Amino acid sequence: MHTISPERPLEHLDDWDDFVASRYKEGKSQEQFRNYDAEANPGVAEFYRLNHTNQTLDFVLNKKKEFLALNRGKKSIWEAAEYLNTLVDDSDPDTDLTQIEHLLQTSEAIRRDGHPRWMVLTGFIHDLGKVLCLYGEPQWAVVGDTFPVGCAWADEIVFPEYFSANPDSKVPEYQTKYGIYEPHCGLDNVHLSWGHDEYIYHVAKPYLPEPALYMLRYHSFYPAHRHGAYKHLMNAQDEEMFEWVRKFNPYDLYSKGHAKPNLKELKPYYDDLIAEYFPEKIDW
Ligand SMILES: [Fe+2]
Ligand SMILES: [Fe+2]
Repeated sequence: MHTISPERPLEHLDDWDDFVASRYKEGKSQEQFRNYDAEANPGVAEFYRLNHTNQTLDFVLNKKKEFLALNRGKKSIWEAAEYLNTLVDDSDPDTDLTQIEHLLQTSEAIRRDGHPRWMVLTGFIHDLGKVLCLYGEPQWAVVGDTFPVGCAWADEIVFPEYFSANPDSKVPEYQTKYGIYEPHCGLDNVHLSWGHDEYIYHVAKPYLPEPALYMLRYHSFYPAHRHGAYKHLMNAQDEEMFEWVRKFNPYDLYSKGHAKPNLKELKPYYDDLIAEYFPEKIDW
């Protein structure tokens, strides 16, 4: 079921994850990272063109108003996961993972390494915000690296050339280093480009510990957690908590390729784990 919105530059939602994983394959220089060949990656380039053109401060503020009241109904974690699973099902069934399989591979890898139970749970829910696609949101407003809006775009963002079409490039106030923010104001005071991270963060906020919430909220903020950009907006708590975001990232990126998880076998463990932190139904 891929006909979710008229703009589908990446053929499948997973293509973005694959692109990110390939970006960080060992041996790729910082230079190679920045200079993507738009012709070699037409889907990815078009995705970033749309993302960088349309993610303005105004756009982000409006999406927050639209979605963060969490008035789209109550669902259990499993109901949300099953709902998300309807997203990708006509891709090659032999090689492609369903959304639930990606979540379970991430969480099972975390579990194998002996991390705390809340972190396993975080792995399991980290991409549930992609249900935004099922609300009719275009992909460029759901996935992709995130970056602050309302201030200058860092060099560490991929395909920076596409920002020239972003209306915020014409607003001088948004083009200074700090833009509308104060030095070291803390990321909680900074608006990032809109996507699935911010949404799942708000859904899970009442229930999970602080490091888990950082992992959810910033797992796509590659310019910061991978490239060290935007330290001038971060405060001491952000710096400390980003250790956890960095700890989480390899499980998101590299757990693909492990054996397909057996949902039936794993279900009782996750039922217990979910019940430990979440009530039966939560607001989405
Ligand atoms: Fe994600
Ligand atoms: Fe993910």
